[in-house]
Amino acid sequence: MRFRALIFVAGLGIIFSLSGCLIRETAPVNASLLITTTQEASVKNMFVTVAELESSAGVSPIDTDWPFEKAHYEGVLLKDLVRWMRKTGEGDALVVHCRDGFRAVFPLEFIQKYPAGLVTKVNDKRPHRWKSYKGREMGFYVALPSKSFPELNDSQYGNFWPWQVQGLELVKLSLFLGRADLSSNPRATASIREGQKAFVAQCIHCHEALGQGGDKGPDLSKAVANHAEDSFVKYVKNPKALYPNSQMPGFERVLSDQKLKSIFTYLNALAKP
Ligand code: HEC
Repeated sequence: MRFRALIFVAGLGIIFSLSGCLIRETAPVNASLLITTTQEASVKNMFVTVAELESSAGVSPIDTDWPFEKAHYEGVLLKDLVRWMRKTGEGDALVVHCRDGFRAVFPLEFIQKYPAGLVTKVNDKRPHRWKSYKGREMGFYVALPSKSFPELNDSQYGNFWPWQVQGLELVKLSLFLGRADLSSNPRATASIREGQKAFVAQCIHCHEALGQGGDKGPDLSKAVANHAEDSFVKYVKNPKALYPNSQMPGFERVLSDQKLKSIFTYLNALAKP
């Protein structure tokens, strides 16, 4: 609920600032972004302004209908970003670093399939000028093309748009995953490999595995010990049916039982090497 909650709190913020309480000025969000690429183990870091980013990677409309239906969004599509970053680096996933330490991972398959983008302008205004969340500026954020691809609202990114983006990093997913990458492990079965792929596609935005990934939910390489296979599958399909206050989206419409079982197998392989 990251984004919807944000809009709600933004509304509260306006009311509070009108009454002259609660809002404190904090440091402004960077108007430039840290771009990190790696080539043959040598890491390159550079700060680019948004204008530089737009002129190198290109600006496109971003086709999202959320949260303001009639707003016109512009930005740099993730696929254009990656194409540009590949001039100085190698990789098959984009890691989006947010100011609070949250890291969003967008694998190349997602980036090529969906025209998601880093929003740099809404109705001709730069988002970094917006004041919103608890008096903090919203900064740049990744928006999904939810108008053309409504199924994205059921994806791991649906309600969790990364915002206050301050860095973009092109990584090799296998290196990023580190010990949690079993794809080339000789003991990995087809099910383990399939499970890893599904974990990256649907869970890594919010969950870590052996310390790599997002931190909105618990580290699943540890939490898997709490579950038998059938209770795991049941939970992930519809968490709210078991715990009405759950913050986790349900994956009933997105992942088959077989895929969910393979995620369970993958996590167990991490938990008990
Ligand atoms: C949008 C964020 C989000 C996504 C995406 C997400 N989860 Fe979760 N998950 C949570 C949160 C938050 C919790 C903590 C408990 C709760 O709110 O239900 C949780 C809890 C869990 C638990 C229970 C952990 C325990 O301690 O017993 C399991 C199992 C789980 N998630 C599996 C998954 C799997 C598998 C996926 C991918 C298919 C996934 N989650 C995707 C946010 C997410």
